[in-house]
Amino acid sequence: MERRTIGAAALEVGAIGLGCMPMSWAYSRSRQRGDESLRAVHRALDLGATLLDTADMYGPFTNELMVGRVLKERRAEAFVSTKVGLLVGDQHIVANGRPGYVRRACDASLRRLQTDVIDLYQLHREDPEVPVEETWGAMAELVRAGKVRALGLCAVGAGAGRRSGVRPHDATVRRLERVQQVFPVSAVQAELSVWSPESLGTLLPWCAARGVGFLAAMPLGNGYLTGTLRPGAGFEPDDLRARHPRFTAEMMAANQPIVAGLRRVARRHGASVTPAQVALAWTLAQGPHVVPVPGTKHERWAAENAAAHEVYLTADDLTELAGLPPAQGSWD
Ligand SMILES: NC(=O)c1ccc[n+]([C@@H]2O[C@H](COP(=O)([O-])OP(=O)(O)OC[C@H]3O[C@@H](n4cnc5c(N)ncnc54)[C@H](OP(=O)(O)O)[C@@H]3O)[C@@H](O)[C@H]2O)c1
Repeated sequence: MERRTIGAAALEVGAIGLGCMPMSWAYSRSRQRGDESLRAVHRALDLGATLLDTADMYGPFTNELMVGRVLKERRAEAFVSTKVGLLVGDQHIVANGRPGYVRRACDASLRRLQTDVIDLYQLHREDPEVPVEETWGAMAELVRAGKVRALGLCAVGAGAGRRSGVRPHDATVRRLERVQQVFPVSAVQAELSVWSPESLGTLLPWCAARGVGFLAAMPLGNGYLTGTLRPGAGFEPDDLRARHPRFTAEMMAANQPIVAGLRRVARRHGASVTPAQVALAWTLAQGPHVVPVPGTKHERWAAENAAAHEVYLTADDLTELAGLPPAQGSWD
């Protein structure tokens, strides 16, 4: 697979990564399959999809434990990115950016991941009660201690900013400028897909101008852009899509022209090319610093997604995809 370089620390990864979140978080627990998930991770590594994206809160903790089982056998082949700063409580998810907590959380992640060093340590969310420079300073200490190779910042889930009237990515850029004063940012992780292209406005150019990598989260639109979800199919109550405004039967039907557009482009590239692969190829085409992290717990989809690096979209394809109607259904 093509390799891409992210960040000032010049970290090399396969152009397409693997998002491990669906293996134990966000999507229905009833559909989680431990052994199949392990096979998916192994298959991704076999195909050169080296970046494995996880977080301590996924599960919580079980996602890192599962990735750790693979790393124990194949550490040299993998690039592990995990996250700190969110805790799963009984009722709520809470942010914790206190330096002492960050240090303890990193040691715990290293144990679960069965490794001496985390390749990319990402701040999952800013703690509103702790200046972000303090949290980032503690993370920088971990780099100096050799426990972490590089730092990243997540800008997903900025709904709170949206509701307060601040454009979420403007707030993220301000936060990035602040933490850059403390220690270099190697990667930003934010949502980027054909139906959520907002990061193209300020975040992606900010990263490109500074040699910062961009991890495209949710590049398949939580599965919608693969064309495998039937409008009105319904989701289990513990599946994030049960409450997601774009996944009501009405919005899933309204957004079908986007899937139809992906399908049209896929057909031009061959009978075996899928809408999911076109959606991933679109993220790759947004810049050489972009690495999509499609999530799956299925071996065959991990393979299908990894193969998307062979789909090269033409200028006409990109124009057609840019001309698709904007997605309907938002969190506002
Ligand atoms: N930093 C953050 O706050 C944050 C937030 C959200 C996500 N992320 C990262 O982004 C990654 C990706 O996000 P995501 O997993 O939520 O969304 P996604 O990658 O857009 O979509 C994942 C969904 O698509 C399905 N899928 C994957 N490949 C498929 C294929 N080829 N054909 C048909 N269906 C396919 C998966 O099904 P199965 O699971 O059933 O295989 C899953 O339901 C996560 O794993 C995580 O690493 C980060």
